[in-house]
Amino acid sequence: MKTKYFQLIFVWFSVTICFSQINFDENQVPDYILPEILLTQNGKKIETSSQWDSIRRPEILDMFKNHVYGDVCDDDIKIKFETTDVDDYALCGKAIRKNVAIHFINGTDTLTANLLIYIPSKHPDGPAPLFLGMNFFGNHTIHYDLSIPISDSYVRNNPGFNIFNNKGTEESRGVRESRWPVERIIDRGYGIATIYYGDIDPDFDDGFKNGLYKLTANCASKNPDKRSSISAWAYALSRAMDYFETDDDINQSQIIVFGHSRLGKVALWAGAVDKRFAIVISNDSGCGGAALSRRKFGETVKQINESFPHWFCKAFKDFNDKEDSLPLDQHMLIGLIAPRPVYVASAENDKWADPKGEYLSLFYSGPVYRLYGLQTFEQDSLPLINKPLWIGNMGYHIRSGDHDITRFDWERYLDFADNHFNKIK
Ligand code: GCU
Repeated sequence: MKTKYFQLIFVWFSVTICFSQINFDENQVPDYILPEILLTQNGKKIETSSQWDSIRRPEILDMFKNHVYGDVCDDDIKIKFETTDVDDYALCGKAIRKNVAIHFINGTDTLTANLLIYIPSKHPDGPAPLFLGMNFFGNHTIHYDLSIPISDSYVRNNPGFNIFNNKGTEESRGVRESRWPVERIIDRGYGIATIYYGDIDPDFDDGFKNGLYKLTANCASKNPDKRSSISAWAYALSRAMDYFETDDDINQSQIIVFGHSRLGKVALWAGAVDKRFAIVISNDSGCGGAALSRRKFGETVKQINESFPHWFCKAFKDFNDKEDSLPLDQHMLIGLIAPRPVYVASAENDKWADPKGEYLSLFYSGPVYRLYGLQTFEQDSLPLINKPLWIGNMGYHIRSGDHDITRFDWERYLDFADNHFNKIK
């Protein structure tokens, strides 16, 4: 009993110490200088969009691969798509549901991820635009639809969602539906597709022994330190995009990649790497996502690397407590998405994700968007709560409430997409 008591005090003490080291005070944000987004490593000033695209963009992409997100070495992998289920009368006739098994094959080893797709049954304007994002607890948790297969990949336990022994269960069907308003998205004329991220790489530090990296071991052995879970998850989103290019019901030029929290980091990285994503949306992605690292507000580089060592590549750890020596910051990640539309959202109570740092990344990516003649945000202070701001191809809002993805967020994303795809009649 006594030992247990001391253990509890120890845990409380560590958590308190840890949080007391985290800055939640705007007045304590250090002075910082961001790396120049339009200045090449050789000191050349980028003046045109074609110089950006041919010189600076590849340079920044490589820096992110080398220092932050790593890369997937896929030389040994073959991809096969297998449509395992189609229901033309899903959601009471509103939608077509498909389940596409994406097989990642290396010789006799195969990893299979299920891509769940809902497309509006009626899409009179041609193939449907579609939102693509990963989910946290299995495809069957996004909706009560009984036909969605239960994932048998490793799942993080969550007693509140009836998830025990790291296994998906019938009882966890639909537990996440509040974050996935599928019917509403269909009614607005969009498809929605998702992959359970654990089908690709389990979200724990397993030394990359499971999931996708099991299949890339040979190839990755040339550069094992480049492996990261975020790059594996983003890689899978690009493979889903490959599938969309083969499906006539889906408008491959109108795919919106989105994600919440850690999966928002994944969406941003996928959108940065793969120019086929037409719009990129980050919901509360925070540190290592939309938030500027140098502000050291909320979660820091050190904190995230210590809690989730597998998310980023090994080199990112060199910047623990040394944000100022990073050759990049997250405004450059947004710059990689330019000139495509990008929307970043924050929540007022989600200080851990640093709402202001998320907004400022958009603001400081402005010079790249301006090279394309687009208007950008003019003020470096946060917009008002619940007042979305759109200018040119940038969108942002800070919603009241907590770290979550809500109906308010979804309505803004749908409006933003309507605007860019000229769906407003
Ligand atoms: C943790 C982590 C964040 C992450 C979040 C999530 O809070 O520190 O960086 O965004 O989990 O994915 O839910």
